[in-house]
Amino acid sequence: MRMRKKPNLSLRMEKCSQFLITSPADHRGRWHDLKPDAQELRLELGCGKGRFTAETAEQNPQSLYIAIERVPDAMIVAMERCRDKGLNNVFFIDGDAALLRQYFAPGEVDLLYINFCDPWPSNHHARRRLTHENFLLLYRGILKDGGQIHFKTDNRDLFEYSLFQFPKAGYTLSEVTRDLHKDGVQGVMTDYEEKFHSMGTPINRCVGTKEHLDPEPEFRPIAGPDRTRRDVSYPPAPQEP
Ligand SMILES: C[S@@+](CC[C@H](N)C(=O)[O-])C[C@H]1O[C@@H](n2cnc3c(N)ncnc32)[C@H](O)[C@@H]1O
Repeated sequence: MRMRKKPNLSLRMEKCSQFLITSPADHRGRWHDLKPDAQELRLELGCGKGRFTAETAEQNPQSLYIAIERVPDAMIVAMERCRDKGLNNVFFIDGDAALLRQYFAPGEVDLLYINFCDPWPSNHHARRRLTHENFLLLYRGILKDGGQIHFKTDNRDLFEYSLFQFPKAGYTLSEVTRDLHKDGVQGVMTDYEEKFHSMGTPINRCVGTKEHLDPEPEFRPIAGPDRTRRDVSYPPAPQEP
């Protein structure tokens, strides 16, 4: 996502500091301490400006909701939306999905959302797609058995590619549709989804359910320079509950 740099980013972050998890690895294995009565932990990758994040967390107050985004200029908009709604069940990580196993313990996540991830159309960059087999194997390490990945995209090529990746990584596919909203809007829309839907672009969606596999397939850690980040100086670490 290319974004204009937001003015006063550090100041705005400070005003939303109760939502920001500055040391996610410190919460590994004890995320539920943030909301002990939570019935489940939902995780969203690449939340962008967070329309989906804020509305889904609001509709599911019994869930603990964590959103990861590596572009702070987008994430601050999502955090402000959650603050304006007065939510207390959602937290944000300014981080990279490739590092999820450092942030979450095995089986800690019930449901993972991947909405309109970057398609990386060149085959040369296929391993960067968040639905590449190796990323799906990475998610196996934090999802519980029977946990689900809910995936939406406007990009038909990425969708067809992903339908092959899910089974390879040990997920059972269901709810496969290539035109989610053909009979009227279904579920909460993301910012990108709203834009593409209003232009008449069909939205693709599927659910992948993690199967128990023994032995667990091998996962090779995902590495690579992150060229999309800009450095932000954050205020002192907030008091996390
Ligand atoms: C095309 S935007 C979609 C944003 C939002 N999900 C929506 O549907 O409106 C993709 C977002 O994912 C973020 N992103 C891409 N790769 C990521 C990664 N490895 N870790 C965290 N965020 C990532 C980008 O910075 C961008 O904000």
